[in-house]
Amino acid sequence: MFCSLIMGLFRRIIPLICLALLSYASACSNGACKLHDSCSSNGDCEPGLYCFNCQLEFSGSRCVRSTVSNPFEIVNNSLPFNKYAFLTTHNSFAIDGEPSHTGVPRVTFDNQEDTVTQQLNNGVRALMLDTYDFKGDVWLCHSTGGKCYDFTAFEPALDTMMEIEAFLSANPSEIVTLILEDYVQAPNGLTKVFNESGLLQYWFPVSKMPQNGEDWPLVSDMVANNERLLVFTSIRSKQETEGIAYQWNFMVENQYGDDGMEAGKCFNRAESSLLNDTTKSLVLVNYFPTIPVKLTSCLQNSMGLVDMLNTCYIASGHRWANFVAVNYYKRSDGGGAFQATDMLNGRLLCGCQDVHNCSQ
Ligand SMILES: *[C@@H]1O[C@H](CO)[C@@H](O)[C@H](O)[C@H]1NC(C)=O
Ligand SMILES: *[C@@H]1O[C@H](CO)[C@@H](O)[C@H](O)[C@H]1NC(C)=O
Ligand SMILES: *[C@@H]1O[C@H](CO)[C@@H](O)[C@H](O)[C@H]1NC(C)=O
Repeated sequence: MFCSLIMGLFRRIIPLICLALLSYASACSNGACKLHDSCSSNGDCEPGLYCFNCQLEFSGSRCVRSTVSNPFEIVNNSLPFNKYAFLTTHNSFAIDGEPSHTGVPRVTFDNQEDTVTQQLNNGVRALMLDTYDFKGDVWLCHSTGGKCYDFTAFEPALDTMMEIEAFLSANPSEIVTLILEDYVQAPNGLTKVFNESGLLQYWFPVSKMPQNGEDWPLVSDMVANNERLLVFTSIRSKQETEGIAYQWNFMVENQYGDDGMEAGKCFNRAESSLLNDTTKSLVLVNYFPTIPVKLTSCLQNSMGLVDMLNTCYIASGHRWANFVAVNYYKRSDGGGAFQATDMLNGRLLCGCQDVHNCSQ
């Protein structure tokens, strides 16, 4: 407490002295520690923060953000859907510690550490899921060549869809977007899972999605109509056959992986139109390395991310991202992907640096 007061007063004048103080005084605990304060357990930190060690940047643990600020609550939900930004988890299903569901130990990367339910409860509103035909069903899986194996499979898609259904049911004002890297060839394979999980009742129909760069429907109308699930597939033909929106008819997206992390550069991935094609009303920015690394992700989710969002704003024809996709979304040196999302919502909703400034 004492130290954060000092920090507030003298941030510009004597930051180094304060840093030194920080490492000695551990004057907070029991939920009283603020952003950047030293801590020894999650319970030390204020709500919305948790205790984390971004060891490449500081020694010991500090309170850092763990939740997104809800723009529908801080501002309102009466604007078009494309006027808001949503924190997006890359490979949301590839969760560290997820037990094997095939009986075969998994040998593949993970990209997240929380369950999908935890991600949603912390304010993640878009999930990137890789869907495959597997064992006569649809599974979430990692692979190459579109084939899922026992040792790369995470879980049946139905289990995850049921978590999403439970969240939408318990949170009647929230909207969730699914972005599918889709390898399912079984006819109506996905539709069956959406139906069985109860998610079809929240379906936002393709017919209501803007085709030519118009604004999306108002969030308040989407909520009133209970059309609160947006699903995009990477298979073009499914828009015709199953009524699942082909992602790049509606969204531009930058390059993913290492090639998308080069400072000062933001360009479209091959499947997407140019980022400045404003006939697509939504903008998705990926910012994660090709091979997920926990150690460095707290740095990437912090400064580098905000810089890239600024670069992509210019490249997208002066449009701020609606979706910002990261690995290990909770890892940061303080504000991380949460602060970046607050920044985007501030820009989108009121031209401010932070959504919290919109209501003032
Ligand atoms: C919602 O917030 C926006 C942005 O601040 C504002 O322009 C709009 O008038 C608000 N709408 C309502 C119904 O309060
Ligand atoms: C959904 O499932 C129900 C019964 O389980 C079935 O009657 C219905 O036809 C299914 N709808 C779709 C669109 O698959
Ligand atoms: C759109 O972006 C492309 C590629 O970056 C660029 O060559 C083109 O001039 C831009 N178009 C407009 C209208 O800004």
